[in-house]
Amino acid sequence: MADQFNYGDLFSADSRDAGPGAVRHSKYDFAVAYPDPGTLPLEELIDAVRTGFEREGKDLAYYSSPSGDPELRKLVAEKLSRERNMTVTADDMVLTSGSGEAIGIVIQALTNPGDVVLVEEFVYLGTLNQLRRYGADCVAIKCDDDGLIPEDLDKVITEQKAAGKKVKYLYTIPAFQNPMGWTMSLERRKQVLEVTGKHGIPVFEDDCYADLRFEGEDVTSFHSLDETGRVIYVGSFSKIIAPGMRMGYLVASKDVIARAWSFKSGGAVSQFTALTIAEFMKGNINRHIEEQNQALIAKRDAMVAALGENFGSAVTWTVPQGGLYMWIKFPEGTDLAAVQEEVFEDGVSYYNGSQFSPTGEGSNYVRLCFGHPTIETIRDGVAEFAKILDQRKVFPA
Ligand SMILES: Cc1ncc(COP(=O)(O)O)c(C=O)c1O
Repeated sequence: MADQFNYGDLFSADSRDAGPGAVRHSKYDFAVAYPDPGTLPLEELIDAVRTGFEREGKDLAYYSSPSGDPELRKLVAEKLSRERNMTVTADDMVLTSGSGEAIGIVIQALTNPGDVVLVEEFVYLGTLNQLRRYGADCVAIKCDDDGLIPEDLDKVITEQKAAGKKVKYLYTIPAFQNPMGWTMSLERRKQVLEVTGKHGIPVFEDDCYADLRFEGEDVTSFHSLDETGRVIYVGSFSKIIAPGMRMGYLVASKDVIARAWSFKSGGAVSQFTALTIAEFMKGNINRHIEEQNQALIAKRDAMVAALGENFGSAVTWTVPQGGLYMWIKFPEGTDLAAVQEEVFEDGVSYYNGSQFSPTGEGSNYVRLCFGHPTIETIRDGVAEFAKILDQRKVFPA
């Protein structure tokens, strides 16, 4: 075989070895927040591709509008106006490759190395990784079951400013917070807007789980409570159709969109996917969401029951009213980070709290996702998890 070319010192100073990022699955896979595959609307999506292509397929010969398919933007804007009370049109939005891309370009547009970015005390690790990648100083705000604690928010901002730090924005996941599962109350949202407003700080709202409510009342979006353009909003089709679609969106004031857009590469999102989703939305996307939510509540209940049967009262959790995961607390000192790889090899995968923490604390927590596995797998997998932890003397079941 010929000698392989060595790129060695040709790599740019900013590049880093991120590996190919292979996805690994264990027998009982509770690690990633996937939606329910059983209710994935494959037939309707196939019909949507056919109808969309018969009508507009030839337009694929064009590069599409840089902000993404205008019809899909219009349909999303209508959905957000109707269901998240947002005053928004297609022109206030750009489509992105999942909301992950939207988050990345907003972070790049707003963050200089060393800037403080406020986050919940445990936060979606994809965002945490991107914030770290661009040098943000991620500072955690304390939370309770109603969401961010406004007094702590005020205190932290005041302290950071006094220390000469630039506090750039607050990133929050107010609906079915990932990983903690709570939904921020309306009262709290108003208080958070008030405190951040007082300090002149924008709120970056990540609302990708808002549709997955299977109990209780919806709480209106942060975006709907602000009239000044201070809230930046991202959403996604990953959890309501599938992550494989890679379709998300960013809603923000025109200047923020213009700056964020300067970091987007590869042109507009796939018109193939946009056409499919637009056609699917013209059918009954809400019926599909409803079906998925019915499947999810049964899975959540199965996980709650299995936890109750297999773990004693020293392990605690709150039951989320929606979303795709449960957040489980083990007694202080239990180290679920140290054994994560071994437990994976034994057949159960999860993420532990320290992976979601800006400070790396919280290895006595785990997030267990219930969206993808079947009810039977949830029952067997939680029992297996308890057995493995017991055998490995991590925690007595
Ligand atoms: C809170 C949150 N935001 C954003 C994303 C990114 O999703 P996607 O890029 O697939 O839209 C996820 C995925 O798990 C998430 O949990």
